[in-house]
Amino acid sequence: MERVLVVGAGFMGAGIAQVCAQAGHQVSLMDVKPEVLEKAMQGMKVSVGKLAQKGLINDEPAAVLDRVRPVNNLESAAQADWVIEAALEIESLKLELFTELDRLAPAATPLASNTSSIPISRLAAATARPQRVLGMHFFGPVPLMGLVEVVKGDKTSDEVFDRAMAFIRALGKHPVRVGRDIPGFVMNRVFAAAFREAVNLVATGVTTPEDLDAGMRLGYGWGAGPFEVVDNAGLDTFVLIDRFLQSMGESELVARSDLVEKLVEEGRLGRKVGKGFYDYTPEGKRVPRKDD
Ligand SMILES: NC(=O)c1ccc[n+]([C@@H]2O[C@H](COP(=O)([O-])OP(=O)(O)OC[C@H]3O[C@@H](n4cnc5c(N)ncnc54)[C@H](O)[C@@H]3O)[C@@H](O)[C@H]2O)c1
Repeated sequence: MERVLVVGAGFMGAGIAQVCAQAGHQVSLMDVKPEVLEKAMQGMKVSVGKLAQKGLINDEPAAVLDRVRPVNNLESAAQADWVIEAALEIESLKLELFTELDRLAPAATPLASNTSSIPISRLAAATARPQRVLGMHFFGPVPLMGLVEVVKGDKTSDEVFDRAMAFIRALGKHPVRVGRDIPGFVMNRVFAAAFREAVNLVATGVTTPEDLDAGMRLGYGWGAGPFEVVDNAGLDTFVLIDRFLQSMGESELVARSDLVEKLVEEGRLGRKVGKGFYDYTPEGKRVPRKDD
């Protein structure tokens, strides 16, 4: 059992807290918004209950939930063996958090970020322990996805990196090694390259999202096609990642068409609002897009 502080209780932080508690860790889950913490605890109850019904967790649901303590400040960093930051993807906010966490947490505690795009080395530079700062890039929904990228910053020590790989394995997840702090890490770079081509093919009228997604599932064994993936993650999030990659000089990974930006302007943000590349019924079933 280790003590874990998860900072940010949104979509990702709540899931990270849950899988840590399922693995037997004692978790403090911190957010600045009480309503977010309440929603996170309620969502966790439902999710843990469903997983228990399916026989996917060994513990009693109540025992798992008892291991998560919602908190509204960072003080529990002082007792943490691990800190995992999953607050909003805003660099200035994360820099402030890392400075504060570095002040509060024991010197030996690794500080991990779940950032999708901000270089780990920049966050590490806000601390006096850059050798103990690294990326833990979970995929969402965290309780259901088996993958976590473990990202080495310029100064992350081998010892901390290896401990993080073991920590992720003990959560029952597969850690993908990212040995260098490059924009988009590994999985988002590969996905961005595929998605760039997929968007170009749809934007130029060569094919449709439905056909291309079916093709990737049936022809290449993808679990979901690229448009399904982006609808699930949020088109607005994807635009932010694209812009960030562009700002880092990675324009070969960025779509040449402005189709995604146009859909975002139309409010088609993906599954979370019931419409994106596809439409969604109130029950969450994906259906081909109807014109607005
Ligand atoms: N959504 C995804 O699919 C996904 C996948 C991988 C990584 N990420 C990354 O995970 C992080 C969180 O993303 P999310 O989708 O959970 O976002 P989210 O908006 O659901 O949650 C972010 C939370 O951070 C909280 N927050 C804001 N300021 C804070 C502070 N000072 N201290 C503590 N909490 C604070 C907000 O109240 C909010 O609840 C981001 O860095 C994002 O890039 C997201």
